[in-house]
Amino acid sequence: MSETWIILGATSSMARAFIRDLAQQGARLLLAGRDMADLGALAQDCRLRGAAAAEAIAFDARKPKGFGAIIDRVAQFDGTLNAAVFVGSMPDQAEIDADPGLIDGTITDSFTGPARFLQMLAPVMEARGKGVIVGVGSVAGDRGRIGNYVYGAAKAGFATYLSGLRNRMGRKGVHVMTVKPGPVDTAMTWGLGRMPFMTDPETVSRDILKGVRKRRNVVYTAGIWRIVMAVIRSIPEPIFKKLSV
Ligand SMILES: NC(=O)c1ccc[n+]([C@@H]2O[C@H](COP(=O)([O-])OP(=O)(O)OC[C@H]3O[C@@H](n4cnc5c(N)ncnc54)[C@H](OP(=O)(O)O)[C@@H]3O)[C@@H](O)[C@H]2O)c1
Repeated sequence: MSETWIILGATSSMARAFIRDLAQQGARLLLAGRDMADLGALAQDCRLRGAAAAEAIAFDARKPKGFGAIIDRVAQFDGTLNAAVFVGSMPDQAEIDADPGLIDGTITDSFTGPARFLQMLAPVMEARGKGVIVGVGSVAGDRGRIGNYVYGAAKAGFATYLSGLRNRMGRKGVHVMTVKPGPVDTAMTWGLGRMPFMTDPETVSRDILKGVRKRRNVVYTAGIWRIVMAVIRSIPEPIFKKLSV
């Protein structure tokens, strides 16, 4: 494989499993995130696992001034360019209710920061006429719920953005895939207890790779969440507003 992947949010538990799989396939990896020491160690691990190249690059979704330099670095790689976005933050809804100022950061981390970055990357990928963008949303974006409606709103916005981007870039040979995980056993859910149909990062990675191979548009992981969310979306609002699902 001589493909290059830029991974935004490379330190995420989910991204780590995906990155390991890509490294074993011999990909070239640009690992983007905030913790450069952690990313450096991750890059070293990727090289040992078989990555053709792996380097750490600084990315903060809340600091768009740095995006241009990252795009320039990505563009230096020849061949197929791919991108995967794992960035996101989910403050406790009760904390946001107490401090509405937390909304801005939540929306920036999970939606507008990554969207702004992809908006800048899009022309570079379109010029190559190939490649894949994987955007990790969430089942939380499929319906606003009492427990995480700000995070859910950010993920809904990101999913709608990805849908439009797919519509645009598909015409230029670039495939955009939206991933909607249900609960996954990661840093984000530590301490929240075992949840229904919870899966693990390795399964998410396998589902993403399979989705990319099959050019899926929207992938639910675990797959059962496609059915669960279809049921939840079909509940009439007068009933739904009284539920705590
Ligand atoms: N776990 C779940 O149950 C679940 C379910 C559905 C969807 N998701 C989504 O899956 C993705 C991966 O999450 P995860 O479960 O693997 O949790 P995680 O380990 O907490 O990963 C979150 C990632 O987002 C990064 N991040 C947050 N704010 C950022 C910012 N301003 N700039 C750059 N990076 C930032 C974090 O970087 P740092 O390491 O620097 O903090 C970390 O790499 C997220 O988009 C999440 O919303 C998770």
